[in-house]
Amino acid sequence: MALASLRVPSFAKINLGLEVLGLRQDGYHELRTIFQTVNLKDDIVLRRKRSSGITVECDHPDVPTDERNLAFKAAWELARRADIKGGLAIQIEKRIPVAGGMGGGSSNAAAVLLGLDRMWGLGLGPAGLHPIARSLGADVPYFLVGGTALGLARGDEVFPLWRQIAAQVVIVDPQRPVSTAAVFRRIDARLTPRENSNTIFRFVSRDLEGGWAFSVLSNDLEEAALEEAPDLAAKVKRIRRVLAREGAMLASLSGSGSTYFGLFDDPIRARRAREGLAAEGFDARTARTLSHGQYRTAWSRWASPGRARVRTR
Ligand code: C5P
Repeated sequence: MALASLRVPSFAKINLGLEVLGLRQDGYHELRTIFQTVNLKDDIVLRRKRSSGITVECDHPDVPTDERNLAFKAAWELARRADIKGGLAIQIEKRIPVAGGMGGGSSNAAAVLLGLDRMWGLGLGPAGLHPIARSLGADVPYFLVGGTALGLARGDEVFPLWRQIAAQVVIVDPQRPVSTAAVFRRIDARLTPRENSNTIFRFVSRDLEGGWAFSVLSNDLEEAALEEAPDLAAKVKRIRRVLAREGAMLASLSGSGSTYFGLFDDPIRARRAREGLAAEGFDARTARTLSHGQYRTAWSRWASPGRARVRTR
């Protein structure tokens, strides 16, 4: 059944560890990373419109609303492949930090693909959407899956982990956009091949033994990101101090930054960390991780026909 409009959630991710193994022939970098969804999200409304073409509206001034927007590209590409002729309005309510390493643009693109698949009744599902997703960006395929997942190759080969993490996350937005491409360029200037790097492997094998090993994880992009944004380094030092004081299991930059996060098993410690960071003037919030199952449930709850938020024609 084709729908006239649909409201879909677009969740953020953090990287619990990220290894850069080398430069690929296609100019991208070979990665190993652990992706994790958090329940911080943008909301996206998809609406069929009478006039032809695709329009994007967003309440955040730094998000482009023309064909540079990844959600626009996703809709355009899916409409082209599925031969859909009608017009479409995409409205994005932004809460995920922009250019913050939390995958906001990639998540929006995947949410538009999943939402339009349902709205237009295409029945492609995540597997059918995967080729379009990977053509849009390295992080987009992950958002078709969600939860705790291993990302390989460009980060676009995604494998859910057997055990899903359940934790509190304190997210700090230093409000300092960082260009992912620029951070990777800095990595090239200093890259020594790291094919033997094994922290992600150790993390995954400890998971299979039944225990998390957050202490082995680190983010290879962190140093380069702090070089790219030197004003960030002093802030990160202060953020890390508060997160460590409150007992974070892991404190790290997400992706290429500048969002910094702390992972906690105790909600009280997480709240204290947020309050401590807010007292130092940081924009900090608490969130929690979403498992693969919770991600799927959130999708079916938000984006299924017949709910109050969904109108049929
Ligand atoms: O794929 P996406 O457009 O999100 O990536 C942004 C930029 O990050 C790319 O243009 C590329 O410079 C860099 N990148 C990379 N290797 C990856 C992922 C991203 O070099 N695996």
